[in-house]
Amino acid sequence: MRKIIINGPCEVSGEVDIQGAKNSILPILAATIIARNECVIKNCPNILDVHTSLEILNYLGCKTKFEGSTIIVDSSQISKNEIPEKLMRKMRSSIIFLGSLIARTGRAKLTFPGGCELGPRPIDLHISALKQLGISIDNIHGNLECKIENKIIGTDIVLPFPSVGATENIILASSICSGTTTIENAAREPEIVDLTRFLNKIGAKIHGAGSSKIVIEGTHKFNSSEHYIIPDRIVAITLMAAAASTGGNLTLKNIKTDLISSAIPIFEESGCLIKTYEKNIEILSPETLYSVKEVRTMPYPGFPTDAQAIIMAMLSKAIGTSVFVETIFESRFKHTEELIKLGAKIKINGNVAIIEGNKYLSGAKLQAYDLRGAAALIIAGLAAYGKTTISGADYFLRGYDLSIFPNILTINE
Ligand code: UD1
Repeated sequence: MRKIIINGPCEVSGEVDIQGAKNSILPILAATIIARNECVIKNCPNILDVHTSLEILNYLGCKTKFEGSTIIVDSSQISKNEIPEKLMRKMRSSIIFLGSLIARTGRAKLTFPGGCELGPRPIDLHISALKQLGISIDNIHGNLECKIENKIIGTDIVLPFPSVGATENIILASSICSGTTTIENAAREPEIVDLTRFLNKIGAKIHGAGSSKIVIEGTHKFNSSEHYIIPDRIVAITLMAAAASTGGNLTLKNIKTDLISSAIPIFEESGCLIKTYEKNIEILSPETLYSVKEVRTMPYPGFPTDAQAIIMAMLSKAIGTSVFVETIFESRFKHTEELIKLGAKIKINGNVAIIEGNKYLSGAKLQAYDLRGAAALIIAGLAAYGKTTISGADYFLRGYDLSIFPNILTINE
């Protein structure tokens, strides 16, 4: 795997356009299968997971084009309904193709998805919900063989946990069906709202996205459409944390505060000044960063688990003790051992991490284990004195367009 090299400290200042959201574009690319037409999607980030989704679409028989930040998918012809393990293993989001593929072709054959190792990541909620819609799913030696038994019939589904992926799979599978499907305790993430906006543009009838009750009226008529992906809130938080921990002043362009409202109080508590404008957010970092009392990850609109490692990296430089409670994933503290190598003092007890910051972090050789963990190590590396080398650059490139950190990061083979 490639390595990231940073010669710190590097102040992150200036202006930056926030790339389109990874967690929007991935389900939307899967959803293009349902359109049976040409879809034009704008503001697409140039990241490895997007390329994996395009590989899957091409494999299935769609025609795709990625020019600048626009992707065009023509899904009028689909020649396959199975996805090989090699592609499924590249990312967790590959499982979202299950809902759209079954809706389009009535059958889908795929394997369990891969993705970042954050502890066990089962798909039981996806499977049980899809079965309630009348889809049979057999696990034959790790291959999921799925087919519509008779037809997909709308039903009421109550999710035991507001899983993002399960909510998306239900929405996709029930978009083409007879009757109405209701999801109770649905995930409320802005990326789910973006997915339903796209689906409604191509002809679906979905209401309530953004609340915990989503209603999908099944339909059979779909058309082409154009869509603009929302900004990536986790990338925005990453850049703010990079500015805050390197003493920078940064303007994030084309992003509104509502997307990151759970993170703003944390930046303010640590001493940053946040100015909000109609379309931009500005962060002015303090001379010294201070610890924050508690960061507790929660489903949206709570503080996002994807920003936990990122804010922890920032607070590794803060004066005082900060506490993190991870409630979404079982094993999402792998970055802590690496932050310790830079000089942070961190103790873990189950799902709680206690960080005592160190204003003078110093460069070290680090290993990234997952996407957001990699971003965290980059933030700490930018703040540290001396050279930091991070192995596992591809984790970072799965979700971040390199152009957001111009002239700061070097990637070596
Ligand atoms: C999505 C996001 C990911 C984010 C996560 C939580 C995308 C592409 N990825 O992932 O960046 O970190 O939401 O906000 O949008 N679970 C089960 N059974 C299931 C499904 C989930 O037990 O069938 C558990 C998971 O193991 C995890 C928790 O539920 O502990 C949250 O998972 P989920 O919301 O489904 O996350 P993803 O859709 O995988």
